[in-house]
Amino acid sequence: MDIRVLRASDIPLIQHANLENLPENYFLKYYLYHALTWPQLSYVAVDVSRPKKTPYDQPKIVGYVLAKMEEEPTDGVQHGHITSLSVMRTHRRLGIAEKLMRQSQLAMVETFGAQYVSLHVRVSNEAAIHLYRTTLGFKTEKTEAKYYADGEDAFCMKLDLGFIREQIRDAEEGEKTAEGKDTEGIDEGEAVGDVGRDPAKKEEKKFKVRVGKALGVGELVERVETAASKAS
Ligand code: ACO
Repeated sequence: MDIRVLRASDIPLIQHANLENLPENYFLKYYLYHALTWPQLSYVAVDVSRPKKTPYDQPKIVGYVLAKMEEEPTDGVQHGHITSLSVMRTHRRLGIAEKLMRQSQLAMVETFGAQYVSLHVRVSNEAAIHLYRTTLGFKTEKTEAKYYADGEDAFCMKLDLGFIREQIRDAEEGEKTAEGKDTEGIDEGEAVGDVGRDPAKKEEKKFKVRVGKALGVGELVERVETAASKAS
């Protein structure tokens, strides 16, 4: 399974997946708006294991997360929002939704400095509620009555992304420490010129050899040239 960032060419496929999996559907241009405005935040899961029947066969998209940054946050805090998430029935309970969510959350912090991520979920959606609350650690902020077109209520959920900022900081500090480490006493391997040499033979006796003119080659060439110029 390959989790990669959403491309504009994937949009018809994720629109199809959305129609299959959820009653909340969107115009194609809404997907495009996400992909063009926050290209780092939306991901797809691609089943690369399917054998290709023809060279033109595209790997199948089996899940997606469509995410954005809140454009005018009412609380003034920079944060992300999960617009839609779904995984095809054939590929559920394999950890795909969790991976898609984690990738998007990381990108929200790395790219836009998001403080938290929010979403809405139907109060009856047990699978998604388990994923958000138990697996990812979201908290329910409030219940919005009749949020959905059919009159169902929504849980409005939030996840503080402070733990991702800390992970990024720790990783950066770890890299800095590794770069600035005292290299004295650390074996950096053999000097380049000695690579492949037998260290036991390092102290071999060296002999002086005669080269060039000293071998008489120069004289030989001159003599031949002189002979040639005399002949012409
Ligand atoms: N019942 C209970 N728990 C479940 C179920 C289920 N039916 N499905 C998954 N889980 C649990 C898993 O066991 C796992 O828990 P663990 O971490 O304790 O082991 C956790 O949820 C994550 O499982 P994943 O395998 O990552 O989830 P999956 O890839 O199956 O996708 C999803 C879950 C997206 C909810 C899927 O069932 C789906 O597409 N449903 C239809 C669409 C949908 O409801 N989307 C969410 C709408 S809300 C929104 O879009 C913002």
